[in-house]
Amino acid sequence: MEPSPPRSYALGHSAQELDRLRRQAEAFGPFTRVLFQQAGIVSGMRILDVGSGSGDVAFLAAEMAGPAGEVIGTDLAPAAVEHANARAQSRGAANVRFHCSQICAHSAHPVRCPSMLASTSAVSSPYQ
Ligand SMILES: C[S@@+](CC[C@H](N)C(=O)[O-])C[C@H]1O[C@@H](n2cnc3c(N)ncnc32)[C@H](O)[C@@H]1O
Repeated sequence: MEPSPPRSYALGHSAQELDRLRRQAEAFGPFTRVLFQQAGIVSGMRILDVGSGSGDVAFLAAEMAGPAGEVIGTDLAPAAVEHANARAQSRGAANVRFHCSQICAHSAHPVRCPSMLASTSAVSSPYQ
């Protein structure tokens, strides 16, 4: 029998937690940038960010992908997606958008994307 996919995130998506994610991403920002450079993220790439939370990692990837590139962020929580899309709009970030989607190994919609991020190792899967 297939295990059930996760339906929630242990720390939740309160305003406080979404702000904690923002501050965490700010603290790790320089390291994350170097990691992305070493991973080969360059202008023009199309990138999927799984478990995007507040959206900061996707924003960094979008900056590196540039206007010719595109980042799609996904999160299982509607509150996180709404928050990240509002931030994208207020930043004028035209090459990044967020969708509510729960990634699981038996998804009916296979992901086709050349680059995929899942930062802070907190994307839960019944298959880990
Ligand atoms: C620790 S936060 C990291 C947020 C962001 N990537 C960052 O580094 O700031 C993990 C996020 O992954 C989401 N998440 C966990 N499992 C998921 C899954 N199976 N599919 C989609 N989102 C998931 C949670 O809702 C949460 O917002």
